[in-house]
Amino acid sequence: MILFDAERTWKAMASTVDMGLAHHIGVSNFSTHKLGRILANHRIKPEVNQVECHPYLQQKHLVQFCRMNGILVTNYSSMGSGDRPAAFKPKGEPVLLEDAMVKEVAAAVGATPAGVLLKWGIQQGSAVIPKSANPDRLKQNLEVPETVQLDDAAMEKLNAMDIHRRYVDGAFWALSGSAYTVETLWDEVGDPFQEEL
Ligand SMILES: NC(=O)c1ccc[n+]([C@@H]2O[C@H](COP(=O)([O-])OP(=O)(O)OC[C@H]3O[C@@H](n4cnc5c(N)ncnc54)[C@H](OP(=O)(O)O)[C@@H]3O)[C@@H](O)[C@H]2O)c1
Repeated sequence: MILFDAERTWKAMASTVDMGLAHHIGVSNFSTHKLGRILANHRIKPEVNQVECHPYLQQKHLVQFCRMNGILVTNYSSMGSGDRPAAFKPKGEPVLLEDAMVKEVAAAVGATPAGVLLKWGIQQGSAVIPKSANPDRLKQNLEVPETVQLDDAAMEKLNAMDIHRRYVDGAFWALSGSAYTVETLWDEVGDPFQEEL
């Protein structure tokens, strides 16, 4: 039922391309399973999949699957989404911008933790969409592609940080009456592409 709805929506979105109303269409929070259904059954494929991705939640198989199928990955919550409403922030959750390894890498490459986290995504070939309400940080974030460089040793350290920690767990998409539960939303149970944790 869930995929049927998603595929119906995709079909309608694809028709906007056929009508010349849109040039580029994509999806968000799609698993390999959902992407696979779209790729198998539809002529027009998503150009982008916007998903949560950062060193704590690297989604390596999903990223690889997207790459193999020519789908650009856009990382959201690259810096750990620190300004989520308090109701969505469990007490004591790990703070990505304050992670000791991120700080160590930042000191080693002469960058800020935010710069390191953004460049980690960019250097993997993904797009990043950092959010800031602060003009100085907006400027710094825009300059990251030119100002931050991560060498192999830095990338290796960051790549070893995966703890499969979602900041956006999707509980607000699984409210009473939704076709989803937090357990089924991400298609992780029984997904052959799901990485070993
Ligand atoms: N498709 C989806 O389901 C989905 C889900 C979640 C988010 N998103 C989108 O993804 C985008 C970003 O994700 P996000 O807002 O979750 O999290 P994020 O970009 O990881 O974090 C935003 C937080 O980082 C701070 N920040 C920004 N630049 C910084 C810097 N250089 N140094 C230190 N702190 C910095 C911001 O504070 P200041 O404002 O004070 O700088 C803000 O508190 C948003 O546009 C959001 O709409 C999409």
